[in-house]
Amino acid sequence: MSTGLQSLFPTRILAAPLQRQADAVFNRQLLRECLQLREDDAAGRAWSKTNYLGGFTSYGSVSRMHQMSPTFARLAKRIDRHVVRFAKALQFDLRDRRLEMTDCWVNIMPQGVVHSLHLHPLSTFSGTYYVQTPRGAPGLKFEDPRLDRYMAAPPRLPDAEQDNRPWVMMPATAGSLLLFESWLRHEVMPNPVARERISISFNYSWF
Ligand code: NI
Repeated sequence: MSTGLQSLFPTRILAAPLQRQADAVFNRQLLRECLQLREDDAAGRAWSKTNYLGGFTSYGSVSRMHQMSPTFARLAKRIDRHVVRFAKALQFDLRDRRLEMTDCWVNIMPQGVVHSLHLHPLSTFSGTYYVQTPRGAPGLKFEDPRLDRYMAAPPRLPDAEQDNRPWVMMPATAGSLLLFESWLRHEVMPNPVARERISISFNYSWF
C-alpha cells in the first residue's frame, strides 16, 4: 500500500514543439493559408461577427481544414504523433479503435479580442497549434475542473505550486502545440498587443 501524500485523478496537458527541429518554412505556409482563409471565407467572417467579436475564426464555416488543404493535412499528420503519445500517457484502452482528427479550424485574434471560457463537447482530445504569437500575447488559461465542487475550500496562496492552483496559464508559443482532454475548460484572455495572435485548433475523437 502507498502511504503519504497521493495525487489522484490528475489533469494532463501536453505542451510540445510540433517537431524536434523547428520547420519555419512549413509554419510560414500555414500562416499564409490562415490569412488567405480569412480573405476567402465570407461565411466565417459573418459568423465571427456574432461569435468571435473583432476576430476571425472558421469554426462555424470551414471547420475541417485538414480535409481542405494539403498543408493542414500535413499538420494533422504531425499532430497525430503527439495524440498517440498523449493517449499512451493517459493509458487509454482504445482496443482496435483509433483517435482521429474530426475538426480543424483557424483563429485570428487582433488586439482586444477574447475567447471566453468553454470546453469542446463530443470530442476526446482538443488542442491548439500556435502559428503566430507576438510577444505579450496571452497563453491558454485552464480552469480546475473541480471548481464547481470547491464549496468551503479556502483560496490558494498566491505562490502556490502549479498543481494546487485553481487555474493555470500555459504559454502559447509559435511552432508548438497544447493538447488536453476535451472536457477541460479553457479560455484566452484579451490580446493586449497590436499584432495578431494566430492559432489552429482541433478536435480528436475515437472511432
Ligand atoms: Ni477551445
